Amino acid sequence: RKKERSIKNMLKDRLPEDLFHILQEAGELGRSLGTQVYAVGGFVRDILMNTPNTDLDLVVEGDGIVFARKLATVIGGRVRAHHKFQTAVLILENGLHIDVATARLEYYEYPAALPTVELSSIKMDLYRRDFTINALAVKLNPGQLGQLVDFFGSQKDLKSGVIRVLHSLSFVEDPTRILRAIRFAQRYQFRIGGQTDRLIRNAMQLDMISKLSGSRIFHELSSIFEEEHVLDCLRSLRDYKVLESIHPLLTLTPVQEELLEELEVVLDWYKLLYLKEEPRRAIVYLLALLNGVAENKILPICERLNLTNRQANELLTLRHHTNKTIYSFKKWRNRRGPLSDLYFLLEELPLEGLLFFMAKFNKEDTRKYLSQYLTQLRGIELDISGTDLQHLGLEPGPRYGEILRKILASVIDGEAACRDDQLFLAKKLVTDPDFMGIEKNMQ
Ligand code: CTP
Repeated sequence: RKKERSIKNMLKDRLPEDLFHILQEAGELGRSLGTQVYAVGGFVRDILMNTPNTDLDLVVEGDGIVFARKLATVIGGRVRAHHKFQTAVLILENGLHIDVATARLEYYEYPAALPTVELSSIKMDLYRRDFTINALAVKLNPGQLGQLVDFFGSQKDLKSGVIRVLHSLSFVEDPTRILRAIRFAQRYQFRIGGQTDRLIRNAMQLDMISKLSGSRIFHELSSIFEEEHVLDCLRSLRDYKVLESIHPLLTLTPVQEELLEELEVVLDWYKLLYLKEEPRRAIVYLLALLNGVAENKILPICERLNLTNRQANELLTLRHHTNKTIYSFKKWRNRRGPLSDLYFLLEELPLEGLLFFMAKFNKEDTRKYLSQYLTQLRGIELDISGTDLQHLGLEPGPRYGEILRKILASVIDGEAACRDDQLFLAKKLVTDPDFMGIEKNMQ
């Protein structure tokens, strides 16, 4: 093996200071315990790719749980141990998660008859991982901090942009890696290596996806939905026949592709509004992906993905609700109704439904109205409350809600901008239930 390359300066430059400090502390602790400590996996990959990733994975050639507990006494945080796997998670006060694993030789029984005796435990640990780009380690012990451990040509593959498995049984052992290969290839715009591509096709022929639990598939799909190039991932999943092997009715036809293309435009547009609420992307994407699927076929697909009844019902309800809203929206648009009517027809639709709505019905003015709704109307609040109505002598009952909604409509339609106007309206409405609104009554 070539002389080890040090990425110490890169770590220093590219990591937040406190995280670099944690690496140093972990290394110090390793020295005092007489064990080697490494940062591994996606963390190292993303340092080299210069894409920020604060999920820290440590591997200790010693007892990982003891190590995590001791590290907690130095840097704080709580430890959750999984004795069965000899791993621990250290959760810091700022929310950062540090996974600590134990590298042990006897732990791995490898079918690909390896001369295990010759391997160090870190090498074994890296060898059982998914792809070369995720099989890098970096030493943390003092004096060695930053030294890269690259047994399998990871740096070369990162440089040339290739997703490559470490051994031929990788996809058979863990078929979720088929979805991961596609996800990483799209994320970094890498290609899937020739042999690795054949191994995926081979695993597909062995029908390996059908051996996966619904939860594991859904977990991988959800990770894909968080990526930038979701549609390209889905196209690739289709081309490898992964979609149909998850469920025969899970397809990606040109019509669906068109809808998903619109959805990506809509999601990008939404991001640029810089609103606080983040859509649950898995829900929006599932709505779009299942758009062409017949109503009675939705539940079987949800079951295959092991969605809870609640999740499945939410999907079905949202789908209905969105379609109904599109219908009412069209009517509202044709008769040029007041803005408050738009508000009332959209107010019950969750953000995921609104975005799906826009993807399905992306006409020029839809976007205009929906952005007005999202940025101005959705958060609108009255300057008066039920207490004011009480002071006006209104008897307890449903009229409180009705009156406040009428006033809200006036506010939205620009007829009662300030508290005084709203109080005036409230007085009228409390005494005269038929009072329609300032302008309408004055005409
Ligand atoms: N891993 C693996 N096989 C899997 C899942 C994970 O070998 N099926 C290994 C990889 O080495 C990976 C590490 O475990 O780097 C951590 O996995 P995970 O947190 O899922 O992914 P990251 O690589 O950190 O990727 P992401 O950026 O998507 O979080």
